[in-house]
Amino acid sequence: MLRPFDPTLPLPPQAAGWDENLRFAYTEVDAFWLTRWTPETGWEPGRLYEHRGATLELSPGANVLYYGQGVFEGMKARRTRAGKIVLFRPRDNARRLRASAARLAMEPPPVDLFMEAVTAVVRANARWVPAPEKGSFYLRPVLIGTEPVLGVRPSQEYLFYVFGCPVGPYMGGDRLIVLSGVHRSAPYGTGAAKAAGNYAACLRPQKIARELGYVDALYLDAREDRYIEELTGANFFAILRDGTLVTPALGSILPGITRDSILTIAREAFGWIAVERKLSIDEVLSDAVEAFYVGTAAVLSPVTVIHYQGADHPIGDGKPGPRARMLRQALDEIQLQERPDPWGWVVEVA
Ligand code: COI
Repeated sequence: MLRPFDPTLPLPPQAAGWDENLRFAYTEVDAFWLTRWTPETGWEPGRLYEHRGATLELSPGANVLYYGQGVFEGMKARRTRAGKIVLFRPRDNARRLRASAARLAMEPPPVDLFMEAVTAVVRANARWVPAPEKGSFYLRPVLIGTEPVLGVRPSQEYLFYVFGCPVGPYMGGDRLIVLSGVHRSAPYGTGAAKAAGNYAACLRPQKIARELGYVDALYLDAREDRYIEELTGANFFAILRDGTLVTPALGSILPGITRDSILTIAREAFGWIAVERKLSIDEVLSDAVEAFYVGTAAVLSPVTVIHYQGADHPIGDGKPGPRARMLRQALDEIQLQERPDPWGWVVEVA
């Protein structure tokens, strides 16, 4: 059920210590934002609804439920030490959602509508944005096809909504495993879209990886089963013996905004050589001195061990490396307006 959010009504008090030991988990806060699209109305004006107890009503025949028209985004609002609330590259999330929607023949929300939605959610829930050392406010913009259909075809009705939750760290482990006989995506498939189905395809490998004591699976390409693609929900980087930073080229992987930021910081702020190209698992195991994974939720975490073909292989000296630490610190400082942002990535919303 949806109840309009009335900002003039008193809000329930926050539990004492709500921001202590935050986990990466779904929690209800004060308000979320929703609009719908039909061919007759186009995008209707969106509005805020009460987040507590909110449920969506869908037809049992809604396209998203079996033909999988569902795409989403992940982004973070952060509270700076100066007390502002900022977003990081939000227009890039909006553009990526539109690209994901286009791949799945869905109606893409305009960038300005996306910005209106995320800004409204952050402002209405400002009291849930944790202090920088406690965590961040994770935003989840979602687009789903809701028209009841029976034959396979695109929906003619869409819901676009944005909710947010205060969160702590996501994943954080440093051991990955390459599983045999499973791929995340294929050439010319949907791997570059942030489509719900891509994550569904990873749930079994991720579960197996965790049961075996690894934080996640590391997927190889589907054509040759040799080149690194990414993790379930993060992009992969290696630093080679000659100092080059390498990350798999785009194509069938998610075009991560953190991935792009790390490449840009490495090249433009640190003057490092950073390349996007094919990166084989053999090259990483024989030549990498550091490895790490990045994403909005994951931020940047070092990889110290990769299991491949029956053996654990340490990366470099098997410890988190200094260059990964430098990149993570730079990203964090830029996001908190504590370091120059010549790219205009940080957007103040409150
Ligand atoms: C993100 O990093 O924001 C994502 O959407 C990845 C998800 C697996 C948490």
